[in-house]
Order: sequence, then C-alpha cells, then structure tokens
Amino acid sequence: MKILNIVGARPNFIKIAPLMAEMNRVKGFDPVLLHTGQHYDEHMSRIFFDQLEIPQPDYNLEVGSGTNSEQVGEIIKRFDPVIQQVRPDALLVVGDVNSTVACALVASYHSIPVIHVEAGLRSFDRSMPEEINRILTDQISDLLFVTEKVGVDNLINEGIDSRKIHLVGDVMVDSLLRHKDFSDRTSTILDSLGLEPRQYAVLTLHRPSNVDQAQTLESILTGISELSKELRVVFPIHPRTKKMIREFKLDHFLESMTLLEPQPYLDMIRLMSQSRMVLTDSGGIQEETTILDVPCLTIRENTERPVTIEEGTNSLVGTNGSNILKVAKSILELGRQRKKRSDLWDGKAAERICRILLDGNL
Ligand code: UD1
Repeated sequence: MKILNIVGARPNFIKIAPLMAEMNRVKGFDPVLLHTGQHYDEHMSRIFFDQLEIPQPDYNLEVGSGTNSEQVGEIIKRFDPVIQQVRPDALLVVGDVNSTVACALVASYHSIPVIHVEAGLRSFDRSMPEEINRILTDQISDLLFVTEKVGVDNLINEGIDSRKIHLVGDVMVDSLLRHKDFSDRTSTILDSLGLEPRQYAVLTLHRPSNVDQAQTLESILTGISELSKELRVVFPIHPRTKKMIREFKLDHFLESMTLLEPQPYLDMIRLMSQSRMVLTDSGGIQEETTILDVPCLTIRENTERPVTIEEGTNSLVGTNGSNILKVAKSILELGRQRKKRSDLWDGKAAERICRILLDGNL
C-alpha cells in the first residue's frame, strides 16, 4: 500500500515519526514522505527529523511563510503535480495545520482516499484557523483516526459515517513514551541553564489570537512576568512571538525570564517533565503534560482536548494576566496531584492505525 504521508509544521513531525517507523517496520506498506516546508528553520524543522529519526522527505514543496490563504493556496498549487506523479493508494495527513487541509483537498480532487490522524477534535471556536482546518479535513477524509472519545461524538454530530471512524489513541503520546527515557538520559538542558527540578516554569506562546494583538499579549506577559518574581520562567520563543513582542515594544516584560530559541524535541520533553508547571497555548503540550504528570495552564478560552482537563493535569486559564497569575500561584501552593490518563494513550496508536489500514478498511 503506497501511502503518501504529509508533514508541514513542527507538531506534525512529532506525530508522523511513529507512523513512518511502523510503516517501515511491518510488511505491506510503501511509505512516501512529503514536507510542505511550512516550517523551515533549523530549530523548527530539521532538528526534529534528526531526533525523531524521521527519514528524509522524498519531496519538499518549500512553501515557507505567508498568510493562511497564501500558505494554503501555495501548497495546493505546488502539491497538485506531485500527487499526480506519486499516484499513492492513499494520502495520510496529521493534525490541523494549513498543510493538513491543503494536501487533503488536493488528494480528494484526485479521488485519492484521505486518512486523517487526530480527527474529530473541536474547540468550537471558528476564529482559530486550526478549527477550520479540522472541520474541512474531516469532511473530506475517508478514514478518521481519533485520539479521545469526545472526538468520535463530534464527528458523528457532523454527520460522518461511523464506519469511517476509529478511536485509536494518540500518536503524539507514542512519540513521547518512546523518547522520554532517552531524553532523561541524554539531555543536558537543565545543567546548562542551571535549573533545579520543580524550581521553574516553562512558557510557550504562539497562537495568533494571543500574540498578534498588543493588548492580549501585554496582559499575558504582565501576569507571567509577575509570576517570574516567585518562580523562574523559561521561555523558548516561537519566531512569530519574537517578532510581535519586538513590534509591540513589550521586550521589557522578558527581562526577568530565561529566553531560549525554540527547543529540540528531547530538550523540550526534559524541560517540561522536570518543571513545576507549564504555561502554554499549544495544543499538543496539553496532552504531553498530562502524560508527564505536570500541571498545565492553558492560556486560551477553550480547548479541543477536553480529556486533558477532565482526566489530566490541564486547566484553562484564559488570557487575562491576573487570572493566569492567580491560578499559577494556587498551583505553587498545592502539591502535585497524580491524574489518570486515557487507556488508549499507551504508545501503541501507530500500531493500531497500521493494523486497521492493512485490514483493508480503505
Ligand atoms: C503553525 C500552525 C499551528 C501550530 C504551529 C506550531 C497553522 C494555521 N498553524 O502555526 O497550528 O500549532 O504551527 O508551531 O498551520 N516562522 C519562522 N520560521 C519557521 C516557521 C515560521 O520564522 O520555520 C515564522 C514566520 O514569521 C511565520 C510565523 O513564524 O510567518 C508563523 O508560522 P506559520 O507556519 O504561519 O504558523 P505558526 O504560528 O507556526
């Protein structure tokens, strides 16, 4: 079975790694890998291929940055001749980034079956480009692999045939469980920054709704710079966020924080796993912190991953700086609470997906 696998942005690399590994391990697959080039910096892309042992892409569309429309349009234009050349039996996309929806659309125009891994997640907030990407990708997918139970309900509510839907767990968790020990043994990030376990917080921020508006970004940074008086804050800065902080002249809020480039996967896992708490607006980090059993404060008004709140270590804190500070302080006062995790988040999601594909479900 010739599967054309698509990656474009950082979280895609983490999700595709266990799938490519499994397709190369078991008989019956001829996996091809295409990188759209949505993320292209050394720190945002190549390091992840190396650390996660993802094979070199067979194709790279090198689309680079742009508005959502420019990015999607450019990927569609450049991908069309490639898919006709590769002529795969199916296209596999992961997650919810612009590369996901753009490539799914091209495949469906060519009547090539689309497999969506991490289908069904919904924030019910259509101001997020990712929510649009999720809804559209799921509607044109032929096989939908879901990470948590509520994703199945969302898809059924949107009229998707239940025979196409499979609850299989989370490939991002596969990667985390596979690399956690190696990260513990080899990452020197704590020593090199002089960090003691549980004596610091990790911050990540990149959502346009948080970083593209001066007022919102200022409120978030005000709360977190207050927190940094009590707890050291380590902040690997996404390029978009760096640019906006400079543009809005908010650099002074960063003075009390430890600033880093975007971190390689193994160092990021190590940093998060030993931290007192993680503050983030990322999607995947909400899941990773639940597995790592570290409190997560999600700087958003909603989440498409509710199981991380119901069963995991996640809390939604919104974007108001004083609320973020209040919840962070309450976590400092509380001990760590052990939470349970979904049974399917066991490191075997990629195995289940490949078995379902080989069973002729396409
Ligand atoms: C994208 C995804 C988001 C995901 C995030 C992970 C969409 C709509 N968004 O957001 O869901 O959580 O990736 O990081 O697909 N840039 C660089 N170097 C790079 C990549 C980006 O400098 O290698 C800068 C550019 O200025 C670019 C900006 O970052 O304009 C944003 O990149 P983009 O790919 O548009 O979206 P992300 O914010 O990274």
